[in-house]
Amino acid sequence: MGHRIDILTLFCELFDGFLATSIVGRAVGRGLVDVRRTNIRDFAPDRYGKVDDTPFGGGPGMVLMCQPIFDAVEHVRRTDATPGKVVLLTPQGRRLDQALVKELAAEPRLILLAGHYEGFDERIRTGLADMEVSLGDFVLSGGEIAAMALIDAIVRLLPGALGKDESSHEESFSMGLLEYPQYTRPREFRGLTVPDVLLSGNHAEIARWRLEQAQRRTMQRRPDLWQEYRRQATSR
Ligand code: ADE
Repeated sequence: MGHRIDILTLFCELFDGFLATSIVGRAVGRGLVDVRRTNIRDFAPDRYGKVDDTPFGGGPGMVLMCQPIFDAVEHVRRTDATPGKVVLLTPQGRRLDQALVKELAAEPRLILLAGHYEGFDERIRTGLADMEVSLGDFVLSGGEIAAMALIDAIVRLLPGALGKDESSHEESFSMGLLEYPQYTRPREFRGLTVPDVLLSGNHAEIARWRLEQAQRRTMQRRPDLWQEYRRQATSR
């Protein structure tokens, strides 16, 4: 089954390098995912390309209008029979985490809506979006970077997207732990050394050390993840 992702944005060009580079670029090249960009401005009601207006009730800033966004979504829906989930990128959405990435990677088609500078008319949230997703508790100038983060995280889960050497990093995080420390040559760099156990060749010892390190690190840095890991461990 091929995946399709539609991006609706005012800045299609922001995605040029992203979609052509590295793991995402290769997945697109191999046809593992079909990514299409649509410029919301093409659906403006006038020849000036107006897509926003001042807020009712007054106040600063501009608000993205319903009509261009609804029309753009309806247009991309008609280009493919696969029904798509409409995902709005906004700081008010559900916080993105690996569990949500997995949920969205299971969808055959996503329609990502990225606003820029301004808010969305509330009726876009209530009447069009199936879900709102946030990258975290900070404000970006637009949803484009959030859309890229989401696409990157989804694409690396698609079968065939990662090579053998790229796949291992998922494991510790999907257990709910942070990654253990890693080292490569040389054994000593500016007086900084590599833990002896990693040079011992004892694979059981190494595995035990790595798990301990991942657990310690999670406990110290992310008590929230640690608590959840312990909860899962005791219910197994
Ligand atoms: N758009 C602006 N800020 C955002 C955020 N934190 N997450 C997702 N989309 C956004």
